[in-house]
Amino acid sequence: MRRAWQRIANVSRSLYARIVFVYLAGLLLLSVTAAWVAVSQFEQLGREWQQRTQIDLADNLAQIMREPLGAGPDSPAAHRAAERILSINPAVSLYLLDAEGRVVGNYAEPGCSANARVPVGTLEDLLADEPMLPVLLNAPCSHRDSVFSVAPVRFGAAARPGYLLAVLDAGARMSMFAMLRTSSITRTLLIAGTLAVVLAGALGLLLFALLTRRFRKLTAAVERFAVGDYGQRIAPGRADEIGHLSRAFNDMAATIEAQLDALRENDRQRRELVANLSHDFRTPLTSLRGYAEQLRKADNLPAETRQAHLAAILANADRLTRLARQLSTLARVDAFERPLGVDTFSLAELIHDIVGKFRPQALEARVELVIDCAPTLPAVAADLALIDRVLANLLDNAVAATPAGGTVRVCAHATGSRVEVAVVDTGIGLSADELTLVTQRFYRTPASRRNGEGSGLGLSIVDEICARHGTRLRLQSTPGAGTRAAFDLPIA
Ligand SMILES: Nc1ncnc2c1ncn2[C@@H]1O[C@H](COP(=O)(O)OP(=O)(O)OP(=O)(O)O)[C@@H](O)[C@H]1O
Ligand SMILES: [Mg+2]
Repeated sequence: MRRAWQRIANVSRSLYARIVFVYLAGLLLLSVTAAWVAVSQFEQLGREWQQRTQIDLADNLAQIMREPLGAGPDSPAAHRAAERILSINPAVSLYLLDAEGRVVGNYAEPGCSANARVPVGTLEDLLADEPMLPVLLNAPCSHRDSVFSVAPVRFGAAARPGYLLAVLDAGARMSMFAMLRTSSITRTLLIAGTLAVVLAGALGLLLFALLTRRFRKLTAAVERFAVGDYGQRIAPGRADEIGHLSRAFNDMAATIEAQLDALRENDRQRRELVANLSHDFRTPLTSLRGYAEQLRKADNLPAETRQAHLAAILANADRLTRLARQLSTLARVDAFERPLGVDTFSLAELIHDIVGKFRPQALEARVELVIDCAPTLPAVAADLALIDRVLANLLDNAVAATPAGGTVRVCAHATGSRVEVAVVDTGIGLSADELTLVTQRFYRTPASRRNGEGSGLGLSIVDEICARHGTRLRLQSTPGAGTRAAFDLPIA
């Protein structure tokens, strides 16, 4: 029972209930007004018709009364003539008026019209050439607005002609209720009107129910979305306002869902990063600790073994330093809210600088380092520190992948409004599968894993820095023949 009340209360508060209430109230008001106007106009039509058909009545009666009136308005002859007329048509009231409209002869209800006066203007309105019907007059005896017929008439010794006035609807006028009971036209009109109103009401309720049903569907979808059902979508249907709203909701839901997916993916990557990092830090640390422990325990180790242990310790320390450096770069690149530095610098100088730093490493690996760029190369606009890292990472990979006797070439040349930089090696190359994977964080090729060096972060950092500069790292490789890694920067 309480539930039922709750439901009724909910429905009465709904948009549907409000629309229906306003609509039905409007419809009721409109139909009552229309019915009132129709019935009163209908009645007016009856009076107009009555006046129009009997407009000449007073003229005809004036001809009959002319002779008796010669003896005076109140003469027995005049009264006899009037009585004869009224016996034929009892619905008519007959009066004789002087030129000012004063009642001088009353043949309707004697005595009721003492000192009565009729406005002459109203009489003249009806006597005009094309009177606007119905012309109503306040009847001398009944004091009601009535239709009438009037004719000018001369009587007695009066200098100016007076009027013979015939009030036509002297009988009681019918009430609206009586008309309903007795007039078939009124009744038919009323029944047709009522049917039309009921039909319009029912159609309206149905239409509003259909309209608000789409709103309810939309609301239900939004509510389900709000509690976490992000797959909610609405069939937009027609291209009206609700259709637009549904489409906008679908777009919004798709955006939020995509952002949530991106957040989840980010979260997954972060967890993976932490797991990989702890592993990458632990391995060299364990090894470093092992060698240091051995050095501490045995102080009579042969000099050669001591040197080998110290070299291993240094190599592991290098690996940790390298990892820490990659991580700090990664943190800088990942900080998307931090705007990129825009430096204007000479790429040729930067290339010479970095290649210079790699010379000892290349010399040791017996790899030839070649710079292939014109000194007239235009300056570029980019984040100097990050581009430095890009070149260092690419060179590091190229030198590491190139066997003794090979060459690593760093080329740069201007194309249109950009400068393209490429690091080309004659190293071991990458297979097609590896090419698609090398830019993922922590991915290392099987060959480099055997080597033990590297964290698998270098190319992912290069890729992200390129993306943040609005360019793309382009990798081409032939296994056994070499690799070309290229990107471009805008000329300042
Ligand atoms: N020019 C290249 N030729 C052949 N293999 C390459 C080349 N560049 C990168 N690789 C391989 O692709 C993988 C990913 O390289 P990336 O630079 O991302 O990681 P890394 O070199 O292992 O570690 P890091 O650069 O972080 O020290 C590595 O296994 C690397 O050996
Ligand atoms: Mg690398």
